[in-house]
Amino acid sequence: MTDRTENPFLYIVVCAAGIADDVGTLIMAAQERNWNVGVVATPQALGFIDAEAVEAQTGYPIRSAWRVPGDPRPLPPADAIAVAPATFNTINKWAAGISDTLALGILCEAYGFGTPTAVLPYVNAAMAAHPAYGQSLDRLRAMGVHIGGYEPHQPKAGGGRDKFRWEEALELLAPHVG
Ligand SMILES: Cc1cc2nc3c(=O)[nH]c(=O)nc-3n(C[C@H](O)[C@H](O)[C@H](O)COP(=O)(O)O)c2cc1C
Repeated sequence: MTDRTENPFLYIVVCAAGIADDVGTLIMAAQERNWNVGVVATPQALGFIDAEAVEAQTGYPIRSAWRVPGDPRPLPPADAIAVAPATFNTINKWAAGISDTLALGILCEAYGFGTPTAVLPYVNAAMAAHPAYGQSLDRLRAMGVHIGGYEPHQPKAGGGRDKFRWEEALELLAPHVG
């Protein structure tokens, strides 16, 4: 972990996709680029990641549920947000303005705050064929969200773990964080 006082703070929003267990790759890449990192996981994503390892790597508790009113904020405010991996479910709900997980609440609010946000979808081609998906990406793009170039993998073919570039989130954000 790097110096907490001077570095910008990155939220990594993790959704329940098959490759979420590799999120440590993005945490490490971000820390190497002098980000401090906190992870926000959807409730479903908690079953996909090693929470203890992630918290040891970031030095911050994983956030997944809303805090109790009056409790201190567990993470500093975000200077930027990387949503990786992003599921079909969270992408569509985010674009529609649904806020029924903490992760979605943070993402929906980020637009109003003007927080630079990048999303790396990890979705199979059968899900991506649903008309709502393309419309959601178009809407997020129009909101100024930076969208990764991963091409949906064939369903039931083992996924595309080897083609998923975690660092792309940092590359997409870099020009927008001063
Ligand atoms: C083993 C497993 C792997 C999954 N992988 C993906 C995936 O790669 N992409 C995706 O969009 N959904 C995937 N899903 C489905 C999501 O987990 C499901 O839609 C969930 O409701 C998403 O919740 P979230 O968007 O709140 O994280 C997977 C489910 C399971 C059980």
